[in-house]
Amino acid sequence: MEIIISENPSEASAKAAEAVKMQILAKRSSVLGLATGGTVMGLYGKLAEMCGRGEVSFKKVSTFNLDEYVGMPASDPNSYRSFMKKHLFSKIDVDPSNTHIPDGCAENIRAYCVQYENKIRLCGGIDLQVLGIGSDGHIGFNEPSSSLGSRTRVKTLTEKTRADNSRFFGGDISKVPMHAVTMGIGTILDSREILLLAFGEGKAEAVARMAEGPVTATVPASALQLHPNVKVFLDEPAASKLVNKAYYKYVYANKP
Ligand code: PGA
Repeated sequence: MEIIISENPSEASAKAAEAVKMQILAKRSSVLGLATGGTVMGLYGKLAEMCGRGEVSFKKVSTFNLDEYVGMPASDPNSYRSFMKKHLFSKIDVDPSNTHIPDGCAENIRAYCVQYENKIRLCGGIDLQVLGIGSDGHIGFNEPSSSLGSRTRVKTLTEKTRADNSRFFGGDISKVPMHAVTMGIGTILDSREILLLAFGEGKAEAVARMAEGPVTATVPASALQLHPNVKVFLDEPAASKLVNKAYYKYVYANKP
């Protein structure tokens, strides 16, 4: 796990955007795994700018989002389809037919989850997965106690996650759905490369447990310790509880 600590979220997002750009320049038909949430908005803004300047094109890129709320129609302003359209897809040259987001309204949701996994496989697997982290240590909506080998399925959201996300629902936790379809931890670990972004003091505990604690289903993000190619982009507050913070800075400054 490579831990990259930046002065602020904007600098960290620029570094993560550069990594996404390098992936697409190396393979125009890259398959990206994408996340939603407050953290990745800066990254998506930078990618849109790069695309606007002609530095990178998403014309051949395919995307798979991590998750969607169960029962949320794609047309709802709070759906992750709406989020992605607003913050990224409408601002880049991606072909909408190559963008995939789990359908939270699928009739047979179990069968749908298997199909979603198959679609990822048929596209050749995810080259680069973008992740945020929940303050409870989740990745995607894999809440604590998720199997480290899990695949796409429906999960019940914790009260913590629903409280964190209530800011997108006018601060009303009762409006935050109780369930979500999410790629599993096993699905995420199949990606060839993973970029995780975390900003702010509220994420410091989860980040420390992810990177320096034991690998445990209690902290789903700790499963990333098992992956050979993970980069973690942090601002100073999110890095504040890392015991070996000075060492990570030393390693980054002396990168071969
Ligand atoms: P956030 O969510 O970026 O809105 O903090 C991250 C996550 O829950 O994975």
